[in-house]
This record gives sequence, structure tokens and C-alpha cells, in this order.
Amino acid sequence: MYALNNNYCLQLVRDANQYLNIELHHNGTLSRIVSLSNEQCSTLTHRLCETTDEFDALMVDLLETSISNIHVTVDENLEISFPVRFGSRNYEKFWSFTVELRHLSMFETNTIDEISLDPSNWNDLRLLGHQIMDNMIDYTRDIRLRPPWRPIPLAIKQTILNSDFPLQGQSPWEVYDEICSTFLPYNVGNIHPSFWGHVYGAGSTIGALAEFITGTVNTMSWGGQQSSIYLERKVLSWLKQLIGFPNDETSSGILVSGTSVATIIALAVARKKFHERTMMIYCSKDTHSCITRAANLLNINKENIVYVSTNEQRQIDLQALEACIDPNACGFIVGSAGTVGTGAIDDLQGLADLCARRPNDLWFHVDGAIGAVACCSKRLRPLFTGLERADSIAFDLHKWLSVPYECGCILVRDGQLHQSTFAQPAVSYLTLMDGGLTPSKGEYFFSDYGLELSRNTKAIKVWMTLKTYGFERFGRIMEQNVDQALYFARLIEQHSDQFELLTKVTLNIVCFRYIGCQSNTIDQHDMLNKFNKHLLITLQERGIGVVSPLVIGTNTFALRMCISNHRTRLSDMSKFIEQMIQLAAELIDSNEFNILKKI
Ligand SMILES: Cc1ncc(COP(=O)(O)O)c(C=O)c1O
Repeated sequence: MYALNNNYCLQLVRDANQYLNIELHHNGTLSRIVSLSNEQCSTLTHRLCETTDEFDALMVDLLETSISNIHVTVDENLEISFPVRFGSRNYEKFWSFTVELRHLSMFETNTIDEISLDPSNWNDLRLLGHQIMDNMIDYTRDIRLRPPWRPIPLAIKQTILNSDFPLQGQSPWEVYDEICSTFLPYNVGNIHPSFWGHVYGAGSTIGALAEFITGTVNTMSWGGQQSSIYLERKVLSWLKQLIGFPNDETSSGILVSGTSVATIIALAVARKKFHERTMMIYCSKDTHSCITRAANLLNINKENIVYVSTNEQRQIDLQALEACIDPNACGFIVGSAGTVGTGAIDDLQGLADLCARRPNDLWFHVDGAIGAVACCSKRLRPLFTGLERADSIAFDLHKWLSVPYECGCILVRDGQLHQSTFAQPAVSYLTLMDGGLTPSKGEYFFSDYGLELSRNTKAIKVWMTLKTYGFERFGRIMEQNVDQALYFARLIEQHSDQFELLTKVTLNIVCFRYIGCQSNTIDQHDMLNKFNKHLLITLQERGIGVVSPLVIGTNTFALRMCISNHRTRLSDMSKFIEQMIQLAAELIDSNEFNILKKI
């Protein structure tokens, strides 16, 4: 132990891992510590010492001979300086370096100080931040080394659920360790190239970095004079331009958590337009359930929702729709730019024409959760002709546009009507001023266009994603995904003795089932349903690939593959079908299915 002054002592300790620990003791108590590796010793001493041994020797020498050259600075770093002599002329220069001593706990509080959530040592936080950043970049780079999904072991579930009430804080390194061991390995692997379940987006590394900025500034983007509002306004203008929507102040929009919320907003605006009149909702029977949920929430009777039949392409049947439209009521007509089940795209031009015949009574809404952003591709854009004529479009950026969750958007043609649906008189603490942060004139308030007052800043991740990759690249990725879907459908057809394609591929969704087995003892249809359910679960549980279920018609169980993943490659398709064939053979031979025979 070497005394530095009346209060501080220093101790050098070697540990079993060849680290040199420099401990600072304050009035007899260990208060700070730094552990140095060979590399760190070399960097600190500008390569004077190459190893911890050499650094240890240098420190001991200094402490024993010239302790006055060692300073503990105000912020309690250890500053070491010593004279170096050059050549025969005895030229002397002071050489110094600083060792940053870590508090024993980064967030340990001094009872005398007022407290905050900031660390006592920012460099320790930086270390943790760099560690997390490195790990996350490796996690993404090595995604193929892990399965797209794995079940959560019971012990892990219990560890999470039995976690103690966190009355006292603990080291953030320990907390991060817990996340590494309990959360990361069992997270749904939708960023994995073989994850094709439901409709998941794969996100991107740039989007993830943007999330760090968003969390750091922690802006509440309700409105007023703040830069995030300008980012959001510009992002919305790009999206309007992409879709061909009026790109001016007459139309409006807002970023929201997803299409479900966007749909509630659209329906609320339409209801405002048709106030006091009966409003019917017309949508195809393949429309996403978010329409029914929005209607329920807005107290629209289920008798006022008409589920229209579909044609052979699984599009809303326009004739059937026209036949059931009530001439005496108003109507909210829903077109799908990609249905969730099969990816069918309704005849949006036909729907727009139909609504244009009674513009005061009919509202044309498009659910573009999956497909609206495919306007990025010149090749796919014609599939969505008519989309730009909608009164409102609800769509997602967190699916095919790979913006990290959550991020959806609602665009409304009549911006004034949109605002009048949500805006409230500015009272009390929301009173607007003649200038400053919340001026009554000249600035935009997104809280006037949606359900939320407090809202996070989604525009940063959208801005960074779109500017980094560009719409053109996304268009190419979407074409790539559609080509992969078509390729997989061809593979299914080439293996017609074992698989059956159940719906036409229009976009990025393939519905199929295994048919290479039969039973003499039970009903063939039931048996195929049972077998395919088992196949789907086993594919997931073995981490081969994630596809999700879909019931087609009244009772045909299908495996549904939705490719909205920029990491997926064509080779993943061929590998997947080979693995499915092997697995199906194994399942047929297993005890559970010993009533089955291969065809
Ligand atoms: C066609 C369609 N509409 C609406 C939704 C709901 O979107 P969100 O989950 O973003 O609320 C989905 C989700 O998959 C969808 O596929």
C-alpha cells in the first residue's frame, strides 16, 4: 500500500487472469479500481511497457522513488507523470498519462449528493455501451449461426418470472448479463433469413443505431418548434410522394405504432365526415381483423360490417360489393393492398372508381400494411394502381420497409377533416404561446392527428433507414422477395408428389401443404391437416425455418410462408424444401404417425 496523500492510498494487485488491478483506497476503504490488460498497459504508456508485468514494475518504481509525480486529480483519476531524459544534453521532458479509476459500482450513489440516473463515471458507461454495441453487431452478423426460433426452456421462463422485485439497483453489467442469458437466446428470430412466419419485418442495423439516438434524446414528439417534428413532416412527404398521394398541406399523415392504430384513426376520420349518418363498413372476407377491431372500438355495430365474398384471385368481388352497398347509408370501403393470408391485392382502381361515383357517401380506405410500400419497385407498382386515389391509407414501415418495430403510418386525403377529428382546444398546460417552443402559429402539432399526446420520435429511424438505403434498394429487395416466393412455389410444383400449392402467388406469400402420405384408416383430409400441423410445429421447434399456419376455405390447413426479409436468399428456399422432405419422411416413419404410408 502506497500513501499518495493524507486521504488516499494506492495498492497494486495481480489477479489470476494476468490483469493488473490498481486500487485506490480512500480513508482506508477501497473506493475505485482499474483492471489493466497487457494491451491497455501498452496503450497507456505509449508503448513504454508492453505487458502488465512491465507496467507493474514501472509503477512500483515510481511509487517508491518519486511518489510526488503521481497525482490524484479532482475527479479522482490517477494522473502519472515522470521526467524522461534525452541524450547527453540532459534534455528533460515530463511524460504523463492518466488512469481512469472505476467506481466500485458505476451507479453507486454518494448519500451526500443529490441523486440522478446518470453514472458517476461516464467512461464506465461508455465501456458498457461499446460492449453492447459490439455484441449487437456480432449478433446480427452471426444470425445464421443460430436457429430462427427455439422454445424457451422452463428454467429460463421461471428465472424471468421469479426475478426479484428490484428495490435496489444493481450493476448494469449484471443486468445486461441477464438479458444476454435469458432474453437474447430465446428471442423470436425474425431477423433470421429463414424466418417467414406471419408478417415480420427484419429491421436493419442502421435502424437499430437510430433507435439508440432516439432513446438518448428521448424527445416527446407531440409538436411545436422542435427538429423531430420537421423530420416527421419530411418523412411523411416522402411517403406521400412514394405512393402518389397529394404531396401538399391539403393531405395529412402521422407515424403510428402500426396499421392497427392507423386503421382506428382512418375509421374515426371517416365517421367524423359521416357524423350522425349510418356508416356501413364493406370489406372482403379476407380483410385483416384490424378492421373489425377498429369498428368494435369505435362502437360500430357488427351488423354494420359487411364481409364481401372474394373472386378466384381472392380479391374482393366488385360485383358482389356493389350489390350489397346500401344506397341510403354511408360506406367505409376497404381495399387490401396485400391480404394477410395470401397476399392478394384487391382491384384498387375498381374500388376507387366505385367510390368516386358517390364521393359524399363512400370513403375509400386501403389497408396497405404489407403492400403499400412495394411502390418502391417500378416492377411491382402497377399491381397497386388506384392506391393513390384512396381517402386514407394505413400501412406499415416495420414490415417490408425494414424499419425497426414499431412504425406504421396513416395518410389522409382531407387533412383538415383529419385534424378536426383529433384536435382539442389548447387548454391549461398545453396552452400555445406567441413564440418559443409551443407557438400558436407556424408550427405543426402531431397530437392533433392521432390518439397520443406523448409519443416517441419514430421519424429518426425512418429518416436514417430511408436515407441510408434509398427507396430504390428497397424496391429491389421487394422484387427479390417476390421472386423468391415464385421460386419456392415452382419448387413446390416440381415436387407435386409430395407438396401442393394452395393459392396463387401474387406477392411475397406462398401457401402450401405436404401431401406425400396417406392413411387407410382415417379420413384423408383430416389426416393431412393433422400431419401438416405437426410438420409446421416440428419445423419451428427444430429451428429449420419458421412458417405460420393458415386455414384456407372451410378447413384446409396450410403452411404459409411470407418473405419480407432482406436477408433471405434463393438458396434458403431450396435448402428449406429439402429439409422439409427429410423431416416429413422421418415423421411418417415415427410412432405417432405409424398409420400413414408414403405415397
Ligand atoms: C394486411 C394487414 N393489415 C393489418 C395488419 C396489422 O398491422 P400491425 O400489426 O402493424 O398493427 C397486418 C399485420 O400483419 C396485416 O398483414
